[in-house]
Amino acid sequence: MQPIIQIQGVGKTYASGFTALKSVDLDIHRGEIFALLGPNGAGKTTLISIICGIVNASSGRVLADGMDIVADYRAARSLIGLVPQELTTDAFESVWDTVSFSRGLFGKPADPAYIEKVLRQLSLWDKRNSKMLALSGGMKRRVMIAKALSHEPGILFLDEPTAGVDVELRRDMWEMVRGLRDNGVTVILTTHYIEEAEEMADRIGVITRGELILVEDKDRLMHQLGQKQLHLILQTPLDSLPAPLQSFNLELSEDGSQLTFTFDAHQETSGIAELLSSLSEQGIALKDLQSRQSSLEDIFVNLVHRPEASA
Ligand SMILES: Nc1ncnc2c1ncn2[C@@H]1O[C@H](COP(=O)(O)OP(=O)(O)O)[C@@H](O)[C@H]1O
Ligand SMILES: [Mg+2]
Repeated sequence: MQPIIQIQGVGKTYASGFTALKSVDLDIHRGEIFALLGPNGAGKTTLISIICGIVNASSGRVLADGMDIVADYRAARSLIGLVPQELTTDAFESVWDTVSFSRGLFGKPADPAYIEKVLRQLSLWDKRNSKMLALSGGMKRRVMIAKALSHEPGILFLDEPTAGVDVELRRDMWEMVRGLRDNGVTVILTTHYIEEAEEMADRIGVITRGELILVEDKDRLMHQLGQKQLHLILQTPLDSLPAPLQSFNLELSEDGSQLTFTFDAHQETSGIAELLSSLSEQGIALKDLQSRQSSLEDIFVNLVHRPEASA
């Protein structure tokens, strides 16, 4: 199936001369939740602003459902809803008017039944007549989502949907976003919270300094991250791995002084107990043990904070 969004060689150099995006290639699949994960200043907002037609790309092109977002601006834009990072609304307008007006901006005829559906889905129906200024921060955010959905887009962008939001509200937001996905909306969210990407996304793209450095299926990524290693430092070096130990996932270091045992941290039993008793049966004594688990956090920190390759 054709990806719902195709980003091809997209770069952005701002008028200041600063290059915020180098050359990004990315396909977004229909119906997925894609998390664009990266630290502040990585270029997340720039990238989604380009896709949404708010910022012009310096190079490359973007297709939304096969339509060029520049040449076919109107058609492409009508497919897309955006909840920006900064929330802005008219304080004195009612929820109903705010959301209905947004739909009108896209030239769509009024459809009260659809607006009602969106407001109900976002648990805003009871607040439809409230003025924006009377709403809590969490509800304001929901209204922003309702506005973004007002013209029935199939693709929703959420720029840092839970930045500065308390933990409980964050959970609500995640729940809501899943609900949207289950209703067939493709969701692209940006975040600098690893936990959010881990919790929400079907796929994760890591962006730093204007470069997309990793795109991976979340489950696959988590599985890779679930590999744990146990380093066994031996009293006496071994020439080779004794036969009874060969059924374990073990690697003997070059000098024979260390064994590395790799196991899946998601499995119920790690096999460490069996390994240790097998070692003692073989009369292999240990000087020390070290255990290590790579986490998304480690990978992220490594990728993002490595020194500039060219520097
Ligand atoms: N209008 C602009 N002019 C010049 N530089 C900008 C502009 N907008 C953003 N930048 C710079 O581009 C980089 C990426 O910004 P942004 O896309 O907002 O990152 P993120 O959303 O990942 O935090 C930052 O260094 C930012 O300062
Ligand atoms: Mg941003």
